[in-house]
Amino acid sequence: MRHSGDMSSAGFPALRARRLRRGAAIREMVQEVRLHPSDFIAPLFVQEGTDAPTAVGSMPGVFRLNLDDLVREALGLFELGIRGVALFPVTPTELKTPDGREALNPDCLVLRAVRAIKATMPELVLFTDIALDPYTSHGHDGLLTADGRDVDNDATVTVLGEMAALHAAAGTDFVAPSDMMDGRVRAIRHALDSAGHGNTGILAYSAKFASAYYGPFREAVGSAQAAGTRSLDKRTYQLNPANPREALKDALLDEQEGADALMVKPAGPYLDILAELRRQTRLPLAAYQVSGEYAQIHAAARAGWLDLVATRNESLLAIKRAGADWILSYFARDMATALRQPL
Ligand code: PBG
Repeated sequence: MRHSGDMSSAGFPALRARRLRRGAAIREMVQEVRLHPSDFIAPLFVQEGTDAPTAVGSMPGVFRLNLDDLVREALGLFELGIRGVALFPVTPTELKTPDGREALNPDCLVLRAVRAIKATMPELVLFTDIALDPYTSHGHDGLLTADGRDVDNDATVTVLGEMAALHAAAGTDFVAPSDMMDGRVRAIRHALDSAGHGNTGILAYSAKFASAYYGPFREAVGSAQAAGTRSLDKRTYQLNPANPREALKDALLDEQEGADALMVKPAGPYLDILAELRRQTRLPLAAYQVSGEYAQIHAAARAGWLDLVATRNESLLAIKRAGADWILSYFARDMATALRQPL
């Protein structure tokens, strides 16, 4: 028998916490946090052309989809109870330039994707990334200064505002600035309102850390390859993983600047930030279980070292428990399928 520090005089434990864990039914009744399909936002990669889906090597089960397949996938997700998707375009290398001007092409891939999805299913909530990295030949999230040694913060923010207005005009519901430039939320809010898009929201990637866990994503969209390295140094704009106070300060600035929802990214390694931010804001909070978190669970499962389903479920439950209202995860489809209850 387990030793109890609280033995009664008769020598048996007075407090038996295990009464609430004795059977499946009582365990279900005392469960405090539950996952639901509408907790999830599914990130989707879209590519040009009509090719069959192409696999992302380091992300088993994740594919880059052409426009038709993307719309079909979005429909399937909605039927499974997923209410939001986040779109990420794979920009053909020949369209990448140092100034990322393809980002402002009103007919660029991601905007065609937004229009195609909205034409078929207007009720699906669309999130589109606002940052220049899919479009720049160097892979950075912003324009570079003349000497190329830094991002040009204020010039970038102006472009991001224009980009956001284009996304709103195409029909996206929330623009999601993932660039981490200073003042971008205010500039984007202003650009949206001035262009008559007062109903378009902003999900700010507020606490986005300079993380090694983004590696597989950069392979998927080709932003690593553009820069000729798998680990681009984005530490002059993304947060230092060692700095919780700075992360909270930055996230709360986004709230002041007018963000509708805040995000912590990556999710699993930063649950402390998520939990603290949950206490400090009343806005909805998103957490992004990023490509590397997904890849490591799959890799360990493939090696036979972890159970895929149990580890997946636990990793996502932990993110919700820490305070996430929305979870961006490449497991979204699998989870919505697993959570499907027979009527
Ligand atoms: C960049 C962006 C990144 C991710 C989403 N938006 C990568 C980066 O900062 O290089 C990563 C997502 C993931 O790893 O799943 N704007």
